[in-house]
Amino acid sequence: MKLRSSQWYAGQDRNAYIHRAWMRRGVPDDAFADRPQIAIANTASDLTPCNAHLNEVAASVRNGVYEAGGIPLDLPVVSLGETNVRPTAMLWRNMAAMATEEMLRANPIDGVVLLGGCDKTIPSLLMAAASVDLPAVVVPGGPMLTGTFRGRPLGCGTDVWKLSEEVRGGTLTQEDFTRSESAMIRSRGHCNTMGTASTMALVAEALGTVIPGTAGTPAPDSRLLQAAHGTGRLAVEMVGADRRPATFLTRASFHNAIVALAAVGGSTNAVVHLLAIAGRLGIDLVLDDFDRIGSRVPVLVDLQPAGRFLMEDFHRAGGLLAVLREIRDLLDPEALTVTGQPLVNYLEDALIWDGEVIRPSEQPLVAHGGIAVLRGDLAPDGALIKPAAASPHLLKHRGRAVVFDSIEDFHARIDDPDLDVDANSVLVLRGCGPKGYPGMPEVSNMPLPKKLLEQGVRDMVRVCDGRMSGTAYGTVVLHVAPEAAAGGPLALVRTGDVVSLDVAARRIDLDVSEDELAHRTPNKATLDGFAAPRRGWQRLYVDHVQQADTGADLDFLIGSSGSDVSRESH
Ligand code: FES
Repeated sequence: MKLRSSQWYAGQDRNAYIHRAWMRRGVPDDAFADRPQIAIANTASDLTPCNAHLNEVAASVRNGVYEAGGIPLDLPVVSLGETNVRPTAMLWRNMAAMATEEMLRANPIDGVVLLGGCDKTIPSLLMAAASVDLPAVVVPGGPMLTGTFRGRPLGCGTDVWKLSEEVRGGTLTQEDFTRSESAMIRSRGHCNTMGTASTMALVAEALGTVIPGTAGTPAPDSRLLQAAHGTGRLAVEMVGADRRPATFLTRASFHNAIVALAAVGGSTNAVVHLLAIAGRLGIDLVLDDFDRIGSRVPVLVDLQPAGRFLMEDFHRAGGLLAVLREIRDLLDPEALTVTGQPLVNYLEDALIWDGEVIRPSEQPLVAHGGIAVLRGDLAPDGALIKPAAASPHLLKHRGRAVVFDSIEDFHARIDDPDLDVDANSVLVLRGCGPKGYPGMPEVSNMPLPKKLLEQGVRDMVRVCDGRMSGTAYGTVVLHVAPEAAAGGPLALVRTGDVVSLDVAARRIDLDVSEDELAHRTPNKATLDGFAAPRRGWQRLYVDHVQQADTGADLDFLIGSSGSDVSRESH
């Protein structure tokens, strides 16, 4: 098979000389003759602390690539640290995907190993790989080990929300809150709850893009390096077999990813990422597929934020394959993986070792899990709620809206003792969608009013056009589409309007007549918050980003451009 990289390296002319000569730097003479050039797209960065250990993982991948006869090539790519990047890492997901795609296409590369971990990194890498369509395989960087505080395990993310609410509710001192900071992050790796990073690693494996059995291996576990080594070898094999995303990722793969997402009680963020990845592959995945496929699936994993345990427990209990074995009848047996084998071929020996962490299918945590897709006056194109993370008594609820036009407006007023809000109110936050913020931040799980926390209220219905951290919980209706800034009806809600939520009926409605709504215009404060950025990526993003219900990708990035080699540069 003629390698793509031979279009740089083969031949005796001046151009081939230039390409080879500058790449030699100690590599053997035969490095450019029929040896697959494998990029290691690496999101390691000190500013993405969850991925800071990936250089060590890359070293193991390099060994595997060399061993299998390939040439490994480090390719640092845009890295997004969820806790640092402002205004929100999601604003840069598509930029990271675009930059990675272009660098893979522009360089003499035959295949790629994708190293990600923190929330947006695996999605952006997979979007890039789907669009450039070179043989690609993911090594998820793995979760951190369980930290403890005052003798109890601490789930990063989830317990931050809980502890900060306790401070606001007066049941935890500020000193103890600060003390917990150094216990939260015990080791290298990404968040150890079933947050977005853990979810996307597991979903990537269910999709078929990770060597089965790898995702969820804790970052400090030596078996991660073993898997990285094996992945390096596999990448070389994939080039030989021409095993590109377009050859093994199908609708069946996404079906399995949605089943896995539901069974592990994964993050709502996976919806927007899977839609975007499918869009790059030209697979017709729609929002309702998540409800249709996922709502039949039992939640088997008792992990925070919906449950009790953390990723280290999950790995010890058998990991993703043990979960999938329990529900193998719900999986599509046709879906293939990076190894060329169907996913279901890996389930036979996958046993549950701790039935508290991973429940057997006959004793699920929640009989019907998944992510419910709501529609109604407030969300004509759809909105999401994760029933397993919501309070059962709020799944059918009517209450008066208390409306906030931005997250700043929310913070300025939420703890005002004179705010007209009670436990039945519905908190509505807008201006947080892809265009409005811009970047669709994780603000939908609004903190509750201090005065209600002090009364013991721990959950309320909240409605927002933004996203929610995968580590958060509560009765939160999110990803409302169209968002307020794109002309969605959310922009017309006023404080005092009655909002009704009925999850069983899949409805989110506003009890305001059509006639009355037709006479309303968004207030100026709402629109002022949506001032478009004037230049740079943010301008491009706001002009071209699509709504959450289709994956929030840029309109001109949908689909694939393939790996065609461009014109010579000299
Ligand atoms: Fe990186 Fe949670 S902040 S995974």
